[in-house]
Amino acid sequence: MRTIYNRILCAPLAMSVLFLAVACASPQEPPVSRAQFNAAGEVQIPEGWREWVFVGAPLTPNALNDGKAPFPEFHNVYVEPSAFAHFQRTGEWANGTQIAKELVLIRENDNAEDGSTAEVSGVGYFQGAFQGLELTIKDTERYAAEPGGWAYFSFGHQAPPYNQAAKAFPTEACNACHEASAATDFVFTQFYPVIRALQK
Ligand code: HEC
Repeated sequence: MRTIYNRILCAPLAMSVLFLAVACASPQEPPVSRAQFNAAGEVQIPEGWREWVFVGAPLTPNALNDGKAPFPEFHNVYVEPSAFAHFQRTGEWANGTQIAKELVLIRENDNAEDGSTAEVSGVGYFQGAFQGLELTIKDTERYAAEPGGWAYFSFGHQAPPYNQAAKAFPTEACNACHEASAATDFVFTQFYPVIRALQK
């Protein structure tokens, strides 16, 4: 009688307690989706980055930079959605985070000398053609030698089609400026209103 009772009642009870203990002891963050790499160790161009979360669009036009802005285009910045969700929950960039920056030329339409155009909403700068794609990835294992584990890539500073794969830049070329001046773990969140809104 005792054994039957044990089997019927105690075994499921013990299993539920065990399950609860395991579930409660390790509140796991879901993993973020990872970049793909080719056999040469280069990162593949991400799929569908224009459907990632759009966080901001800084603009450094030539007209305000003596005609010599390194990137005279709009800089449209997108965060891969699972990395965005993780940041939303924790305020931190997860290992595996991918952030894309697509360059977009100022729209051509009988532009004034300062590059502006007059459109129905007023005189100013409007987005024209795509002109380049960059990516940063945080991966403290693959890029253990990079400060913060952040590596930086370009798929070309040109009109599409972009290059299909890219190798990481040397630390001094990109990472160093991000480390020195970016607000949140190498990312320039100070220029992304969508991220700032999460940090309040
Ligand atoms: C002199 C400083 C500086 C250097 C060098 C630099 N960046 Fe950035 N980067 C910025 C700033 C400022 C932003 C914020 C957005 C903007 O204004 O473009 C940014 C933003 C980015 C972003 C969007 C995510 C983020 O971290 O905010 C990517 C991707 C990026 N840079 C890639 C690169 C790559 C690739 C290189 C090297 C070829 C590079 N950067 C070198 C200053 C720099």
